[in-house]
Amino acid sequence: MIDSDLNYYEWSDSGVSVVGHLCEHDSLALGEKIFQIDEIGMPDYTCSPKSAESFRRFLLNEGFTGATARVKIGSQEAITFLQSCEFIFIETIIEPFVQTKTFDGEYDWSTRIRPAEIEDIQHLKEMAFEAFSLERYHSDNRYDSRLASKRYSDWIEKAVLERGEQVVDVVIQEGLQVGFFISKFNENGEECMWLLNCIAPSHQGKGIGKRAWTAMIYKLKQEGVKTIKTSVTATNTRVLGLYSTLQFRYLAPLATFHWKEV
Ligand SMILES: CC(C)(COP(=O)(O)OP(=O)(O)OC[C@H]1O[C@@H](n2cnc3c(N)ncnc32)[C@H](O)[C@@H]1OP(=O)(O)O)[C@@H](O)C(=O)NCCC(=O)NCCS
Repeated sequence: MIDSDLNYYEWSDSGVSVVGHLCEHDSLALGEKIFQIDEIGMPDYTCSPKSAESFRRFLLNEGFTGATARVKIGSQEAITFLQSCEFIFIETIIEPFVQTKTFDGEYDWSTRIRPAEIEDIQHLKEMAFEAFSLERYHSDNRYDSRLASKRYSDWIEKAVLERGEQVVDVVIQEGLQVGFFISKFNENGEECMWLLNCIAPSHQGKGIGKRAWTAMIYKLKQEGVKTIKTSVTATNTRVLGLYSTLQFRYLAPLATFHWKEV
């Protein structure tokens, strides 16, 4: 069964069901139609070759040439289903979080955080294009790494222009724009999710990341945020080191899978 409502899809066959949507930003950046799986249901814990074949056919019939899924590491049934549909393992995801109430990192006044303006876009796009190299489309060598980088420059441009639920802040050090944060808040504003953040490559390794992350935590704490969460690829040992020094703790890891028509 396939139910598609605008860009949302529900598929089910032989005891397996999938809910997902057209992933617009990935599709735009990569120039192909990418499906994002939101939920896999397997109430009877089986996966027949028939359901796997049927799901692949669904993707192709709907014009998708790529698909992505993120599941708990222990979800063996869902992982077996994805692998039988020819999804491949891409990365382990770690989710650091901190309670602002207990955070007491050392504040350095030389680092400032301010909201992004339209005039910042060009510079932020360049920073975003250059800063990321370990994330999932970079790790999947079936994708051109320039397109993988473009995904981040497209992302920040859209977030600044839309001024919607994604809030962009710029990190300023000695008058220069040296980094950014894209954040999203829950309804009551007590939980903040950092969707994307970086320090420009030419400014890395000088302690600015630690100062910027600290300044951002205090800013959010002042605004009433109680919990800050984020997610990073496990190969990004540098940012994991940063989170460890900033008193973050970690949720159970997830795994990212990709399917691509070959
Ligand atoms: C990760 C990142 C933010 C760190 O910023 P930075 O300015 O280079 O970091 P700092 O110089 O302030 O170092 C802060 C901490 O990071 C960790 N760190 C820095 N370089 C490291 C390295 N090569 N290996 C391991 N840990 C490292 C250390 O814990 C360090 O603290 P310490 O010096 O007290 O030990 C930056 O490298 C970056 O933007 N990377 C690319 C984008 C990215 O990964 N974004 C985050 C995920 S979306």
